[in-house]
This record gives sequence, structure tokens and C-alpha cells, in this order.
Amino acid sequence: MSLELKIENAKSLLNHIASEHSPAVFANSLGAEDMVLTDLIAKHAPSIGIFSLDTGRLPQETYDLMKQVSKYYGIRMQVYFPERHALEAFVTEHGVNAFYDSAELRKTCCQIRKVEPLRRALSGKQAWLTGLRREQAPTRQNLGAAEWDADNGLHKFNPLIEWTQIDVWSYIREFNVPYNLLHDRSYPSIGCAPCTRAVTAGQDIRAGRWWWEAPESKECGLHKRKEVA
Ligand code: ADX
Ligand code: SF4
Repeated sequence: MSLELKIENAKSLLNHIASEHSPAVFANSLGAEDMVLTDLIAKHAPSIGIFSLDTGRLPQETYDLMKQVSKYYGIRMQVYFPERHALEAFVTEHGVNAFYDSAELRKTCCQIRKVEPLRRALSGKQAWLTGLRREQAPTRQNLGAAEWDADNGLHKFNPLIEWTQIDVWSYIREFNVPYNLLHDRSYPSIGCAPCTRAVTAGQDIRAGRWWWEAPESKECGLHKRKEVA
């Protein structure tokens, strides 16, 4: 399928979500895929709200892009922080970098800094959108463009599910979309600063995320399992 057709399909899906599943919100990590969606939503479906989960550990480049995006598109992103009591208790007990100590502590950190804030962000919404792509990871092979998110009790849409990495970057270049400067420094996938590093040539695009863990377990809990819409 050509990129033009993929863009048309994504636009139709955005229009469908905006008219049939309002209020709908887009979870924006400001990664390359999410910048494509930001551009499409700002231009074609501005009634879809945009939010970002600020874990408190994002790279400076991501914060810089957050500011740039608001200015460039004239949009206000809703920002969600971790619940402070849970985070204070976790860090006090396990230390500031507990995620390196065990998979369990890593998942608890993601739970407190991302998953719980996501629940709040999705509360009262009919649908949410993500920049997930099938090609990204073994854990994402079975995803569809439209799913039912049983954990959170609302529709979940992944408009770029069939896009390749080349499609994403062709769109960014063609439409002059702002992007995270870390992408130019060999960071194809960007999360929290202490849990993301650069990849070397030929490595998997998510090799720099939680690089000390096995590929099958590299999910933070935001995207749990496939459900049929
Ligand atoms: S993760 O699960 O490994 O962290 P990834 O970085 O690939 O996910 O992002 C997949 C999708 O999850 C993004 O396209 C975005 O929709 C959502 N997402 C991830 N991190 C955030 C964040 N900090 N804020 C908002 N949405 C996010
Ligand atoms: Fe914590 Fe790392 Fe997960 Fe960020 S990616 S929430 S720092 S474990």
C-alpha cells in the first residue's frame, strides 16, 4: 500500500473516531510515530484531545519538543504526572534508580509513573489513540487498527498500525514535522532517559529500550493485550 493511501486511511479513521467516539484522546509520547499523529490530528481532527504522561524522568530533548509542539501547532497538551504519594514511597524505599535492580521493580516504576496516570487520562473517555506499529516489536504482531481495551473499558485505535518506519520518516520529511533530536543520534525509540539508550547499526529499533531485559518482556504496561473491537 502506498504512503498516500495509508495517509488517507489514517485521516478517515481519525474522522470516524472524532465523530463516533467522542471524547477521544491521543496518548502522545512525542516519539516519531506520535509526531505523525500529532500532525494529522492538528490538521484534520482537532477535536481529538492530546495528552502526555510526564514520568518525571523524560529526556530533556522530549521536554524541548513538548514546548516546540505546543507553539508550532498552537495546541495545549494535557500533562499527567505520577501520583505523588505512591512515587515518594517507592523512591524512598527502593532508591531513585530501582528499575535497574529487578524486572519487578522496573515494572512497578512503570506502573506508578505511566500506567496509573494513564488510567486517569482515560477516565470518562470513549476512545484513545496510540502510535503503535506492528513492526515495532514481537509483542505488537497481533495488534489491529481498532481494538477494545478491556482493561480500561474503552475503544483503542492504532491508526499507524500498518505503517513502516520508512513511512513514518517519509511523512515527517514531506510535511516538515518537528521531531525529537535524539532520533538523529541513533535513538529510534525513546522513553524515559535512564531506560533508553542509542542503538548500533543493524540493531532492532527497540534494542535501546530497557536494554537489559529480554525482548518479550519489553512493555511498560500501557499496552496490555489484544482484544477484538
Ligand atoms: S512503551 O510502552 O514502550 O513505552 P512506546 O514508547 O513504544 O511504548 O510507545 C507506544 C505508544 O504508547 C505511543 O505511540 C503512545 O501512544 C503511547 N505512549 C508511550 N509513552 C507515552 C507517554 N509518556 N505519554 C503518552 N503516551 C505514551
Ligand atoms: Fe520508570 Fe524506566 Fe518505566 Fe520510566 S521507563 S517509568 S524510569 S522503569
